[in-house]
Amino acid sequence: MNYSKYFSSDVPSFLRSPVREIFRKVDLSAICSFAGGYPAACTFPLADIPGLTERVLEKYGTKALQYGATQGVPELRELIASRYGVPVSQVQITTSSQQGIDVCARVFLDPGDVVLASNPIYLGALQSFKAYRAEVVDLNDFMAGEGVVSQTHGHPWPYKREGPTAASSDALRVGRGRREAKAVCETVPSSAVKFIYVIPDFNNPTGKTLTLAEREELVALARELDCLIVEDSPYRELRYSGEAVTSIRELAPERTLQLGSFSKIFAPGFRIGWIIGPEELLEQIYVCKQCLDLCPPVMDQYLAAEFLGSGLLDANLVKTIAEYRRRRDLMVSLLEKYMPAGVSWTYPEGGLFLWLTLPPAVDTVALYDRALAAGVAYVAGSFFYTDGSHRNTMRLNFSFVDEAKMEPGIKLLASLLRDAAE
Ligand SMILES: Cc1ncc(COP(=O)(O)O)c(C=O)c1O
Repeated sequence: MNYSKYFSSDVPSFLRSPVREIFRKVDLSAICSFAGGYPAACTFPLADIPGLTERVLEKYGTKALQYGATQGVPELRELIASRYGVPVSQVQITTSSQQGIDVCARVFLDPGDVVLASNPIYLGALQSFKAYRAEVVDLNDFMAGEGVVSQTHGHPWPYKREGPTAASSDALRVGRGRREAKAVCETVPSSAVKFIYVIPDFNNPTGKTLTLAEREELVALARELDCLIVEDSPYRELRYSGEAVTSIRELAPERTLQLGSFSKIFAPGFRIGWIIGPEELLEQIYVCKQCLDLCPPVMDQYLAAEFLGSGLLDANLVKTIAEYRRRRDLMVSLLEKYMPAGVSWTYPEGGLFLWLTLPPAVDTVALYDRALAAGVAYVAGSFFYTDGSHRNTMRLNFSFVDEAKMEPGIKLLASLLRDAAE
């Protein structure tokens, strides 16, 4: 039977995640995997779960097994509101922050609308934006502090442009400060830009953190364009060094939807996240979520509330941060020890990832099967680029690998890269 006629016209825009494909093919525990973004299992509060479950069932009984409010259970919303200093009315619980991204795309984007985002970009966000047939325009040069929002028209990333076409009269022009001289995005109508998508803290994939000045400039740009900002913040609480930088939501609460997640500070298996944002925007997200899942998982929300409210989350976070700081430092010291000349990497102040730039001759896509056969996995950096470029880059995760496997893994990777560069 030919099923193709049954699929909607959105289906060809669905992007398959190369990272998930890697997971399907390989038993990651059998090799040294720097590929995924999985938290370390040792950070999960396994021993606390029976006690938490017992307390939740004692407190809430069958309510914990019933449908709940679409906005999320009040107990969890209140705890998040007080942790981040916002009114409860500005908190929507989501079934993970991936759903937060998707629901923003679904509520705000029409086909052809523009999302300004850094390139490389988090794949899950790219998948959502593409599924709603939006255009992703590169904010990367701007983020790198070069003062340029580069326009990426005609880049070969496989989507169909269906939205408003270029009109020089209302073209997006960046007219402030150092960006003035380099007004770009000239062919993107500013009215088509719906939001800026940004991971300001410990970016996935690059590990970079935006400075306060960069955040302020980004907010100024959003105000100039009169667009929203989706601040994706699943790693914000995982800082291992340096000082916390004011969040974009704090700088521009009137136009920012800040996405948070319990995945990296509790356990991703619960699939609980949240959105903080203006009530009027959350109201539409609330209506949209009714048809997505009716409500986030109730038992999981109560467990998260109990974990957060009892102080266990903060105690566990201290241990998690110490664990990840050690792993980051170990990986950096191993890279320094083993990597050949011409390889450079980011030094993340938090989060789960390092980003490597290799000599131009090294093709990390071509090298991948050899690396896997030898017993080490990474994610080729080009997978995160909307045009598949930058094949001499790679993302390395330092949270998942057993520390004992890290040295042989980096040593092996370094020798593969040395051979590939010759
Ligand atoms: C930047 C970013 N956003 C969102 C997510 C999704 O996280 P979750 O859906 O588990 O909350 C991830 C997961 O790795 C991520 O790296």
